[in-house]
Amino acid sequence: MTTPTHISSAAAAGSPAAALAPYAAVFGTPLSGAALKVMLLGAGELGKEVILALQRLGVEVIAVDRYADAPGQQVAHRSYVVAMTDKVALRAVIEKERPHLIVPEIEAIATDLLVELEAAGTVRVTPTARAAQLTMNREGIRRLAAETLGLPTSPYRFADSLVSLAEATAVVGFPCLVKPVMSSSGKGQSVLRSSEDIASAWNIAKEGARVEGSRIIVEGFIDFEYEITLLTVRARGLNGQVETHFCEPIGHLQVGGDYVESWQPQPMSPRALERAQHIARKVTDNLGGQGLFGVELFVSGDEVWFSEVSPRPHDTGLVTLMSQGQSEFELHARALLGLPVDTSLRAPAASSVIYGGIEAQAIRYEGVAEALAEPGTDLRLFGKPESFVKRRMGVALATDVSVDQARAKALRVSGAIRVKAA
Ligand SMILES: Nc1ncnc2c1ncn2[C@@H]1O[C@H](COP(=O)(O)OP(=O)(O)OP(=O)(O)O)[C@@H](O)[C@H]1O
Ligand SMILES: [Mg+2]
Repeated sequence: MTTPTHISSAAAAGSPAAALAPYAAVFGTPLSGAALKVMLLGAGELGKEVILALQRLGVEVIAVDRYADAPGQQVAHRSYVVAMTDKVALRAVIEKERPHLIVPEIEAIATDLLVELEAAGTVRVTPTARAAQLTMNREGIRRLAAETLGLPTSPYRFADSLVSLAEATAVVGFPCLVKPVMSSSGKGQSVLRSSEDIASAWNIAKEGARVEGSRIIVEGFIDFEYEITLLTVRARGLNGQVETHFCEPIGHLQVGGDYVESWQPQPMSPRALERAQHIARKVTDNLGGQGLFGVELFVSGDEVWFSEVSPRPHDTGLVTLMSQGQSEFELHARALLGLPVDTSLRAPAASSVIYGGIEAQAIRYEGVAEALAEPGTDLRLFGKPESFVKRRMGVALATDVSVDQARAKALRVSGAIRVKAA
């Protein structure tokens, strides 16, 4: 394993990963013995933007995903197709590449291996291996937030059988939600209105779970006014201390557990904003490390509930490509490299998801020129090799004098794009 040649001798004396700790990283030349190497585990549309931000700083990037030609793999220096839940396969690719830093981009990873490698000082994981491990399982993060940190959440119970699910609903009450503890993007989730829904909820959860036979969480339904993602960045200041920075709150609309629109800033009462930041700080302080987190919160008036947290850029944060001077992807890249960050808002903006709408390989997009004709608009087409009806294939972005106008404009942009089979 080579380390960048010009790092300080004190840093060089430790493991390669120690070269990045505790202060700012030393930057090198990609594809040389002096390269600073970062490996993305997961290389979807969010990873692709992180990779581009890293590439601009001359970082050598290796993109790993479970399928070939994933969006981030198309812009990385090298790529691998690996089942990242397979500990042996994941270890093999990490040992082959020996990256200085590992950046998990998805939840479905053999995180116990990351914990092991981080403890051995072989690699550093962004923000920490423990954060990746705790947040991949709803039980881990929920117990931490509610029981260890005492933060407000929906009432909840865990269950692992039809019988214990029925018992859990009796405690939590109706309406409630059932979710597999390991799932994302709304998979395996359902809302239960009465005891008649218990059996179907159990089946939906079983089918949608990432890991067969896994547990479920039963959550009381929070009748919130709106929900936000509070992007929270832990980054080193020049004094070497990790400081917490907040972006303006992002409002979003979810349909079937998947985000369809987001906007920034979401207006909030001063008390609600203070509570949201307090919750986000407590959770991210505990998870530790350096990087950006997406803290999901429900809000009603001045009341705020913690829902969940991603220790990585959040899909609703795609809006920051337009709304902020430094997008959530640049913020993540800067924070993990030990660089200073600026979370300030540039202008109100909105994002609107472009779904595939069809099942086809190698699709074409029509209407792009018309979509981008209005000033203050932008677009990302992710380049995914295969389209599904409900697969996110792109995102429309718009900025305007108000969030309402930006939302309407973003919808016009996404509405102008037509997806066609090749
Ligand atoms: N307890 C609850 N009360 C009311 N609504 C809820 C509750 N839990 C989840 N929801 C709604 O469902 C959406 C998805 O839930 P959650 O974030 O837990 O799922 P997910 O599968 O992790 O989604 P993603 O991966 O997209 O974040 C939330 O954003 C919210 O709109
Ligand atoms: Mg969520």
